[in-house]
Amino acid sequence: MSDPIALSRQATAAIAKAQRVEELEAITVDYLGRKSGQISLLLAGIGKLEPAERAALGQAANEAKRAIEAALAERRAQLETSRIADLAETEAIDITFPGPPLARGHVHVLTQVRRQIETVLESLGYQVELGPEVETEWYNFEALNIPAEHPARENWDSFYFNPQLLLRAHTSPVQIRAMQRIKEPPIYIITPGRCYRRDAPEATRLPYFSQVEGLAVDEGLTVGDMKGTLLFMIQSLYGKDRQVRVRPSYFPFTEPSFEFDVSCGICGGMGCKSCRHKGWLEVGGCGMVHPQVLRNGGIDPQRWNGYAWGFGIERMAMLKHDVDDIRLFYESDLRFLGQF
Ligand code: DAH
Repeated sequence: MSDPIALSRQATAAIAKAQRVEELEAITVDYLGRKSGQISLLLAGIGKLEPAERAALGQAANEAKRAIEAALAERRAQLETSRIADLAETEAIDITFPGPPLARGHVHVLTQVRRQIETVLESLGYQVELGPEVETEWYNFEALNIPAEHPARENWDSFYFNPQLLLRAHTSPVQIRAMQRIKEPPIYIITPGRCYRRDAPEATRLPYFSQVEGLAVDEGLTVGDMKGTLLFMIQSLYGKDRQVRVRPSYFPFTEPSFEFDVSCGICGGMGCKSCRHKGWLEVGGCGMVHPQVLRNGGIDPQRWNGYAWGFGIERMAMLKHDVDDIRLFYESDLRFLGQF
């Protein structure tokens, strides 16, 4: 074809029909390509023409070229605009649309058990008292009648920051702090909280765990008062069929001292695998507060006496829910935690 006007008409028609940028590129090569584009081919023969015709054809060819370029640019812009409009349509995010609902969490089983213990004892008039987890050597040991070099210290080996400061090994130091704060008996407090010991993790122990300590200071308290209180607590938590018993033991801060057992809920005290055929499960220690401990708390042992206990919260939760490995409480495995 040798007519630039016809060429440009043909090209602009093809450009108007193109739906994709790739088609426009093919058209560009086809008409404007430097070697074999139709405009170039047209101009290739121009040398053979008369000068006047040559000028006219050259001009017409240039106009055709410009017209094709302009049409290409315009169509390219149209295609880009509609591509973006399509994107906005298909990939739009409606930020006002409500997201998927969050799964609902619930209170950790150890927190549940702690709160149940608190609720039961608060119903008897006990107040919740809290103490620091970083404790001085004096509160953790000395004030509880466990002097330096006393072999009993080995039972509560903890983590030391320096010889005077450690992570408390039990909640018992809060007994002293509570007596010092409240000053005037009657004192009826419980103190739940985290404790630390230098033990390797295993099924029944961890280097961190929780205890709930109880302390009553009043006039003329007896072991019977203590046992009755603890029986009420255990039966409130585990059911009326549970029995409790105390066995003589030794703690430097109580005199007399006892281990405290609860009858096994699975065999009812007959003996089974879960209680290792004893019929009883050990929950913690208790006893009548040693007069020196009262004195260290600023209380006159001539006039007042008291009882105290310290139980492991994990152990109470294990008893309640038949959990056989204490580590499960801290592994954050939702398959375990979701059961409570
Ligand atoms: N503090 C003791 C321990 O961690 C438990 C204990 C025993 C606490 C007897 C008491 C008590 O208050 O009277 O092993």
